[in-house]
Amino acid sequence: MMMKWWRQTAIVLGAVLIFGVDVSANSRPQNTTSFNKDWRFHLGEVTNGQATDLNDSQWRSLNLPHDWSIEGEFDEKSPAGTGGGALNGGTGWYRKTFDLPEAAKSKFVFIDFDGVYRNSEVWINGHYLGKRPYGYSSFEYNLTPYLQATRNVIAVKVDNSQQPNSRWYSGSGIYRNVWLTTTDHVRVDHWGTYITTPEVNESSARVVMTTTLREILQSNVTLMNEVTLTTIVFNATGQEVGRATSNQVQVSDRAPAEVKQELTIKNPSLWSVETPYLYRAVSQVENKGKIIDRYETAFGIRYFSFDKDKGFLLNGKPVKIKGVCDHHDLGALGAAINTRALERQLEMLKAMGANGIRTSHNPPAPELLELADRMGFIVMDEAFDMWKKEKTKFDYHLDWDEWHKRDLEDLIRRDRNHPSVFIWSIGNEIAEQWGESPEAGKIGTELSGIVRSLDPTRPITSACNFVSPKNTLLAAGGLDLVGTNYAHQRMAEFPKMFPNRPILLTETTSALATRGSYDMPSEVIRRWPKKWDEPLKGGNADLSCSAYDNCSAPWGSTQEETWKIVKKHDFLSGMFIWTGWDYIGEPTPYPWPARSSYFGIIDLAGFPKDTYYMYQSEWTDKPVLHIYPHWNWEQGKEIDIWAYFNSDEVELFLNGKSLGVKKKVGDDLHVSWRVPFEPGTIKAVARKGGKVVLTREVRTAGAPAAIVLTPDRKVIRADGSDLSFVTVKVVDKNGTQVPLADNLIKFELNGLADIVGVDSGSQTSLESFKAKQRKAFHGLALAIIQSREKAGKITLTATADGLPPVSTVIEAH
Ligand code: GAL
Repeated sequence: MMMKWWRQTAIVLGAVLIFGVDVSANSRPQNTTSFNKDWRFHLGEVTNGQATDLNDSQWRSLNLPHDWSIEGEFDEKSPAGTGGGALNGGTGWYRKTFDLPEAAKSKFVFIDFDGVYRNSEVWINGHYLGKRPYGYSSFEYNLTPYLQATRNVIAVKVDNSQQPNSRWYSGSGIYRNVWLTTTDHVRVDHWGTYITTPEVNESSARVVMTTTLREILQSNVTLMNEVTLTTIVFNATGQEVGRATSNQVQVSDRAPAEVKQELTIKNPSLWSVETPYLYRAVSQVENKGKIIDRYETAFGIRYFSFDKDKGFLLNGKPVKIKGVCDHHDLGALGAAINTRALERQLEMLKAMGANGIRTSHNPPAPELLELADRMGFIVMDEAFDMWKKEKTKFDYHLDWDEWHKRDLEDLIRRDRNHPSVFIWSIGNEIAEQWGESPEAGKIGTELSGIVRSLDPTRPITSACNFVSPKNTLLAAGGLDLVGTNYAHQRMAEFPKMFPNRPILLTETTSALATRGSYDMPSEVIRRWPKKWDEPLKGGNADLSCSAYDNCSAPWGSTQEETWKIVKKHDFLSGMFIWTGWDYIGEPTPYPWPARSSYFGIIDLAGFPKDTYYMYQSEWTDKPVLHIYPHWNWEQGKEIDIWAYFNSDEVELFLNGKSLGVKKKVGDDLHVSWRVPFEPGTIKAVARKGGKVVLTREVRTAGAPAAIVLTPDRKVIRADGSDLSFVTVKVVDKNGTQVPLADNLIKFELNGLADIVGVDSGSQTSLESFKAKQRKAFHGLALAIIQSREKAGKITLTATADGLPPVSTVIEAH
């Protein structure tokens, strides 16, 4: 079996694996294996695509997860619109033919889909198993009654043809992982554990574990089973720290047993954003002296509250939530989940100092929560972007009446053991809030009730852009936290508006920037476009937005404007910035050919924009000094030079001549100089207590002379999914990045690996993400290399007209 990434993770963390069992992102039974390999795929309608005897030998073979939309070309006429990334949906069929593994014979077999976008329908051996319209829900089917020993055919129809159905790029297909689980006839139910820690202090924690056991019926005969349930808790080094046993538990199909157990952990290691300590509960089901099921649940021990005056308190200490909102796409990889790609996104956010993630605006991939658990992020887990009223013509409002209860319940059941999940959001900017209609309060109350019935331990909010006590959702929707989107000019007034209620800025900012583009004078702020639903008239001819932090959507604010207010008020629990990373779709403020967002602090390829360092200087303790822009301008033009830093002062030199020492005054978050351009070098020197702590130089670049390749990891796992992200930099003969270089870089790969994506971070490039070449954008491009299941050397070579070829070597182990 291939090495699963979380096994690696456990080793990295120094944790010992209990019983050698792989623990996946969600709590799962012991006998769960990946079911991602060797599927067949056909894009388009198929008559009777579920028929067992259909000949699919001509269909494309692939491994999941898979997103077919990202493989297509950008299409100006795409029904998804540029909002959906101008990439097409459609209908697709997946089939997999398989023999039952020996171990599964005479057992019970379940298939788990972490997410299929959207309207999936599933058949096994021609039998219809069901439909799930919502593309972000996880679900399971029991295959047992229809299985044969050999040649089983599972068929999945995915219908993402009705567009638009999303305000951002959704992707299409079985874009998340698929699992196969075999169990005995009594098992821990699907998402069948629920662990809470109702009393926690430094010296002890009471752990309450509720486990649902179910008998699975083979025929219509109900067997009454008597089992023993033992739950053992291990700490992060694999030592047992407690156990509870319940004997003579009666389980039948009609009456699943809910077993409540309790234990106390002495001197618990608390989960925090700095030290995300994880425990593991192993549930063992025994029948007649034999262990018939084993199920692992990772959990954390922490206590927290939201206070109307002090904001968010974690383990008794105030912690400002410095969060970002992100959509689920992974840039050039599209929506197809890849744990390493997601981990890289989170690593860069963590390095910026962020401690929070909002899963805007839908249930995330389970891997996101597993990563957040072990990396230390505060997650706001969000259910919906709309309720009954549409935002786009074919969106989930069409499925609302039939499905919302089920989808919401499934989200809570699936995610309620994750220590990183602190807040449930029942919806983003839902249309019902407007007009003071009671409908929002009514639906809000219903949804809050559903959430609370399954998890009363976390507060519920909704991200409201009608920020007013007259919003019935805020007034009467059963919310624990007032969740506000934007309205930054009124933030200071929120306590008066919502007396005695804790407040969370569920969404802020919406600043706009293109990496490497600078509009001067830098202090003039552009609010683009004028109206939210109109593309910008005017703007820059190259469809760029300035990266000086002087451009924002009119409903939003710049990064600095926002943070200055948020940092000042303790009663603001924190904020989720729109957005951490650029994402495909919603290219506000520009029309086609713009096709991805400008909101990110990090661009789509993973290159930080300048404001990344403003946050880093504010949110981390490491010494930071960042100066910009680049130093290639017209002679004599007045250029604004900005510096972000966290020492006492910065002195700037142009070609050796001091331009003066600057200190931040009042609530300044940067300092700046205005300088007539002359070619050469700008150098910044940061000092603390009179001592130099950092220096930075930006030099005038000459013509492109070379390419520099830098893999983020030179050693990757030979597991068929691990990735190396290779930064491609176009430099002059002295190694200085050429700021406007847009050379076409061609890639060639030798070795057992694949180039699975290319990008440059440009929001308007219509080049394919799947090509083997990419034009550099402002001197940078990216190639993403994926291992196969074979160890060996991988050589990536980059060439460009007029530049010498260059190679880098990556090892797959
Ligand atoms: C918000 C919305 C987000 C995104 C953002 C862009 O109002 O919640 O989904 O559209 O605007 O500024």
